[in-house]
Amino acid sequence: SSEMLVDSFGRFHNYLRISLTERCNLRCQYCMPAEGVELTPRSELLSHDEIIRIADLFVTSGVDKIRLTGGEPTIRKDIEDICLHLSGLKGLKTLAMTTNGIVLSKKLPKLKECGLNALNISLDTLVPAKFEFMTRRKGHSKVMESIDAAVELGYNPVKVNCVVMRGMNDDEICNFVELTRHKPINVRFIEFMPFDGNVWNVKKLVPYAEMLDKVRQSYTGVERLQDHPTDTAKNFRIDGHVGTISFITSMTEHFCAGCNRLRLLADGNFKVCLFGPSEVSLREPIRAGVDDAGLKEIIGAAIKRKKAKHAGMFDIAKTANRPMIHIGG
Ligand code: GTP
Ligand code: 5AD
Ligand code: SF4
Repeated sequence: SSEMLVDSFGRFHNYLRISLTERCNLRCQYCMPAEGVELTPRSELLSHDEIIRIADLFVTSGVDKIRLTGGEPTIRKDIEDICLHLSGLKGLKTLAMTTNGIVLSKKLPKLKECGLNALNISLDTLVPAKFEFMTRRKGHSKVMESIDAAVELGYNPVKVNCVVMRGMNDDEICNFVELTRHKPINVRFIEFMPFDGNVWNVKKLVPYAEMLDKVRQSYTGVERLQDHPTDTAKNFRIDGHVGTISFITSMTEHFCAGCNRLRLLADGNFKVCLFGPSEVSLREPIRAGVDDAGLKEIIGAAIKRKKAKHAGMFDIAKTANRPMIHIGG
């Protein structure tokens, strides 16, 4: 594996998140404003071949995990083909996807055949009317079906991402925990993070400590599991539950010291941290005819400029960034 993926703090980046589209079939409040966001013109989005070329270069350099994100990755028409090509890259161990699950259940058998081997599904409420309010669209039962379809197909664990917002769904934490009693799923409670256009407010953030407290008040035998240094999540088991729960504490207890993540956006920009405006275009040099060595130099230099950590709980909100729908988490 190559020096290209090591930053100036010695962190090795083996995990590439690729956003396949800026479009989505939901309009989640925490992800984008009601009026939507400006879409990059089609000609400035990466083609199938450009995505594969860049991914190949990363995998050859030591990336062994790719996660497909969006927007919503399942609405990209060539999604099966992209999975097939990526899963065939020599050295890739994990091909994962983060999806809203709206059109997933029917596509899943084919995606699995194409090599998709890990699945995170977003679900923020168990109340259909609230789902419609939070996402500005219908579809709660479709997501539930997709979670079950993923379990049936043997994805284990299926990770369920739940962004917790005060006054919105913080009353449902224990109902989500209940899902783990009989289903082999990992429910992940995520602290609400600020992005362009999502009206973040510290009052809407429910801190990890408070969420864990709530769970401990209702359950006995809640036990912290050993996590991997690069994990985004703090993981717990509960006596008698086949599934597990986790907390993603980006705001109150960031995990930047173990960061192994890089991002390729749908427009071909390369982003070394979820937060901050720092991005470099890979699309432009590619279309100008750069060779792999040149591309590696651009990527390596960007990684070397990566900061030690994000700006901190209160200053993140003031740092310029894109809307979440463009970044893909
Ligand atoms: P696994 O690979 O299954 O551990 O998933 P993941 O947590 O890497 O990715 P996922 O897309 O499921 O994201 C879950 C939550 O973690 C989302 O809210 C993401 O925005 C957040 N997240 C993912 N990567 C990072 C990161 O590098 N930094 C921070 N602060 N949050 C992240
Ligand atoms: N804060 C925290 N998590 C978010 N996600 C989207 N927007 C936010 C936010 N503002 C989550 C989605 C998805 C993952 C990619 O990021 O719910 O599960
Ligand atoms: Fe990595 Fe940036 Fe996320 Fe911190 S905020 S974990 S440095 S991507």
